[in-house]
Amino acid sequence: MLDIGALTQIANDLFRELPTGGQWPTAPTRPAGLTLPQPPGAPALPANPLPLATSLSATPPFVVSQPAAAAAVAPPSAITPRVLPTQAQTVDPHGFNTTVSPALPHGGGVTQGVPEAYAAGLPAAAPVPTDGALPGAPVAPPSTPSTPYYFLGEASGWPSSAATPAPVPTVPDFAVPAGLDTRVLREPSAPAPKASAAPQYYFTESATPPARGTPAVPEGRRHFDVQAVRRDFPILQERVNGRPLVWLDNAATTQKPQAVIDRLAYFYAHENSNIHRAAHELAARATDAYEGARNKVARFLGASSVEEIIFVRGATEAINLVAQSWGRQNVREGDEIIVSHLEHHANIVPWQMLAAEKGARLRVIPVDDTGQVRLDEYQKLLNDRTKIVSVTQVSNALGTIVPVQQIVEMGHRAGAKVLIDGAQAVSHLRVNVRALDADFYVFSGHKIFGPTGIGVVYGKREVLEQTQPWQGGGNMIQDVTFEKTVYHGALARFEAGTGNIADAVGLGAALDYLERLGLENVAAYEHDLLEYATHLLRDIPGLRLIGTAKEKTSVLSFVLQGYQTEEVGKALNQEGIAVRSGHHCAQPILRRFGVEATVRPSLAFYNTCEEVELLARVVQRLARARN
Ligand code: ALA
Repeated sequence: MLDIGALTQIANDLFRELPTGGQWPTAPTRPAGLTLPQPPGAPALPANPLPLATSLSATPPFVVSQPAAAAAVAPPSAITPRVLPTQAQTVDPHGFNTTVSPALPHGGGVTQGVPEAYAAGLPAAAPVPTDGALPGAPVAPPSTPSTPYYFLGEASGWPSSAATPAPVPTVPDFAVPAGLDTRVLREPSAPAPKASAAPQYYFTESATPPARGTPAVPEGRRHFDVQAVRRDFPILQERVNGRPLVWLDNAATTQKPQAVIDRLAYFYAHENSNIHRAAHELAARATDAYEGARNKVARFLGASSVEEIIFVRGATEAINLVAQSWGRQNVREGDEIIVSHLEHHANIVPWQMLAAEKGARLRVIPVDDTGQVRLDEYQKLLNDRTKIVSVTQVSNALGTIVPVQQIVEMGHRAGAKVLIDGAQAVSHLRVNVRALDADFYVFSGHKIFGPTGIGVVYGKREVLEQTQPWQGGGNMIQDVTFEKTVYHGALARFEAGTGNIADAVGLGAALDYLERLGLENVAAYEHDLLEYATHLLRDIPGLRLIGTAKEKTSVLSFVLQGYQTEEVGKALNQEGIAVRSGHHCAQPILRRFGVEATVRPSLAFYNTCEEVELLARVVQRLARARN
């Protein structure tokens, strides 16, 4: 037996081999700038505080009404074992040593015995009615009913708002540490922005007559009650440096409504199980919840079928999946891949890797001086060697809205497939993949008010059916022997292993939430807010806006003379304002404009005029100090 001294010696010897050179890593401490001021007499914060989450009070209990709770658990009659389609022994045209089965409705198998509520309601390739509702779509599993009070006045059209006053969510205990300054920062010395420019009619105060010169609410347009919306996002009650949090880093990630937070908690409290793999009750609930989320994504994107929706980790993994599956199968030496100058690194690097492996060539659509892609130059790049065009719908660095409909049409005319990166678009613009006709469309859940670690590949069914899988493993197979593997059909063969079940369900709740607000209302509100913010920033001395395309959404990228972008970011953080400063994982487009980094405030529908006014005042104060 080893004594304690010998064990210690072994441990020390092993530890010396570590990359830290035998030094114990330094414990992370709270950055000085993020220390919350303490009220007088409050106990000192621990030097190395616990992660924030551990200090929060528990999520309020998730309450499900009886009918909704009943819908959560499929009745026994819904539990119908599936019949495996006759296996088609096909000759694989791509040289894989496998056979491929006909498509299954979705990733399940004959032994599962789990309810097929969603798949049953969604026959393969069923046409989708023009109103966007999937045919036979079953009652959705429980999601927190969101508060139906976003729109003011008679024109709201919200069916239950008059009859059933929605409970106003209580502000969670953890929101505001006692004793902190709750006043909104004001800088009286800074000139007030022109009142007439603010789209005041969206605010609760719109009950009072609009200021002179403010446009009247257009006929039929609903009043967007941003304060009501904000109450759904508990994190917006946070304080940073004693100031109310102003979250203007929405292009990096969005905040989550209580409905999403509660849906995740509900999943783990009542439904958690692996999916597609067992005959027990929780497997049924989890599978229903997961496939229900797929159904919601299909409906949200206007897909023809749930079989066109693949869950992945995020937009980055989505593009890698397409490059490594469809790309490796179809791109050959001498072929060409087109991206635009606007792309995020996630839509450049996977194609470079593929091009390097195959001896293909990456070609780039240039942009004009406003940051819009040049369709005339794009046309010149297209030829019969072009195999795939992969372009963002909205630039994360500049906010440019790219004319993707034309990009798709032109790409198809040249015989190429087209992928649209919707990571920055889906939370701002209504997308319909059938109208767009893209072969692939990808996005990330966390940029659309859903959880991190979940994303989506939409692929046209006929394209997915011809595409070999990327990752191999469990869940994507029908049969495995040491000689060969028979894959599942088009959908399931792309979801190897245990996926991110809970976060897919959370994404479904986020889409429900956004649908209740209405993308069109969100887009109209954000458009006005962006115009207003642009108006406030553009005349600040020494400030240069990077990206001034006519069609933009959400993003205001700028540099400020006399400042490193990080300095501006830190100064804004002092006032509670979160923006990203840096290269935004889009170095080529920033270099196109002669800069290495920008400050990037980015908006969402829960941001307010007051917040962008505060942003402008702080930037103006900085500008005055050095310009
Ligand atoms: N792609 C994210 C951004 O633009 C992280 O910030």
